[in-house]
Amino acid sequence: MSEQPSSESTTPPRTDPEPDGRDPGTQSHDPAVPEAYAAFMRTGWADPARDVPRHDVAPLAAARRARLAEAFPGERLVLPAGTFKVRSNDTDYRFRPDTAHTYFSGNQTTDAVLVVEDDRHVLYARPRSGRDSDEFFRDRQYGALWAGERPSLEEVAASLDLEVRHVADLPEALAAGPKTRVHRGVSADVDRLVEGDDTADADLARVVSEMRLVKDDWEVAQLQEACDVTTLGFEDSVREWDRVLEHGERWIEGTFFRRARAMGNDIGYDSIVGAGSHATTLHWIDNTGPVVPGELLLLDMGVEGRNLYTADVTRTLPVSGTFTDLQRDLYELVLAAQQRGIEAVRPGAAFLAAHEAAMEVLAHGLADLGLLPVSAEEALDPSSKVYARWTLHGTSHMLGMDVHDCGRAAPEAYTKAELAEGMVLTVEPGLYFQADDLLVPEELRGIGIRIEDDVLVTADGSRNLSAALPRASHDVEEWMGRLRG
Ligand code: GLY
Ligand code: MN
Repeated sequence: MSEQPSSESTTPPRTDPEPDGRDPGTQSHDPAVPEAYAAFMRTGWADPARDVPRHDVAPLAAARRARLAEAFPGERLVLPAGTFKVRSNDTDYRFRPDTAHTYFSGNQTTDAVLVVEDDRHVLYARPRSGRDSDEFFRDRQYGALWAGERPSLEEVAASLDLEVRHVADLPEALAAGPKTRVHRGVSADVDRLVEGDDTADADLARVVSEMRLVKDDWEVAQLQEACDVTTLGFEDSVREWDRVLEHGERWIEGTFFRRARAMGNDIGYDSIVGAGSHATTLHWIDNTGPVVPGELLLLDMGVEGRNLYTADVTRTLPVSGTFTDLQRDLYELVLAAQQRGIEAVRPGAAFLAAHEAAMEVLAHGLADLGLLPVSAEEALDPSSKVYARWTLHGTSHMLGMDVHDCGRAAPEAYTKAELAEGMVLTVEPGLYFQADDLLVPEELRGIGIRIEDDVLVTADGSRNLSAALPRASHDVEEWMGRLRG
């Protein structure tokens, strides 16, 4: 691979010097850098260039860009990756690129910006730190010796099969030209470069969401892999049950995260580890509680794979390894609702069919328990929905690179639309009896149960991508017993 172009060694400063004269990217506790040291540091380094194989997403991303450009002929479309987010002071969260940016480019490096204009597609990227400026050894976010070597522009181009230019050229590239739409809210810097047109930009966000509704075979394989690694993470957690009982919810959070990092990119969302009444808090991510035998434990966890597709799976386990009669009855009710929901998933069915099927089962089950103030049929009437006091949330959402995928799609294309082959959605009904709910018998208070699987719409029905994890109560018990040894 050739020498880096000179533009790579002239990375402009990210910001003006700090008021106290410090260079940007350094901190108050960093030692002074005398010129002799700086000059010495700039000498004597090997060329870091390397041959980079083509990423297998490259041709798919090219086809996606072509479709996107067709939706906005003659216009310029700007999709930023975003940048670091501060966790505390000078410490950032690990970078995770914006989903739409990566979907249309394959790029996962920080600060890049994809610009699509008919058949010209350019990725503006931040290059590798040159060795003839201070960045590589002084900048905490971008310096190779602090944060790791970034790929060069040539390496990104070779990997993604895309024209790549220096990100410093972006302002000039956007200064004049055709109507420009920006995928806003991802990069404040890029948002500032182009005057906003709320309607036009919202329409771009809608289209990039709707284009992701149907997954291609490569994406389905990514989701299957995410589900498979998620299964391993659930198994790891049960194998460590003694530690779980010792340390509580935190142990499962950490155990699952270890698997997600080892075999994926990360967790796709904060793991929900809810023991006892914590299971009735839908997004319990504090995960600070004990895990007590006799109670139920709700685990809602998903691995995000290396190409950023995430699983989203929930199982509710008996901490002692065996459901009590009451727990089993409630569990089987939720399972029956989920099964009816899964059976409702097929091409041409309404997106809401799974929800309606699951809620019908749960409303009748709640009526049988004597909890509803009206009949199940009356409760199911859209003007009532009183059963939802104990079901709380929708049964399905699209799944992909975002756990709640395609979030900017129009209702007419998503919640009010029919399912199509290639869509992937969750089916995740639950029953939640809050600890302070005076309208349920005491024995139900503090019980939360959710069962969630990731379901692909196939040509003639559906395929459960997360079926490797058992669901039936006796299968769950057998599985726990086997793993705990
Ligand atoms: N896994 C969390 C949710 O679907 O909201
Ligand atoms: Mn979910």
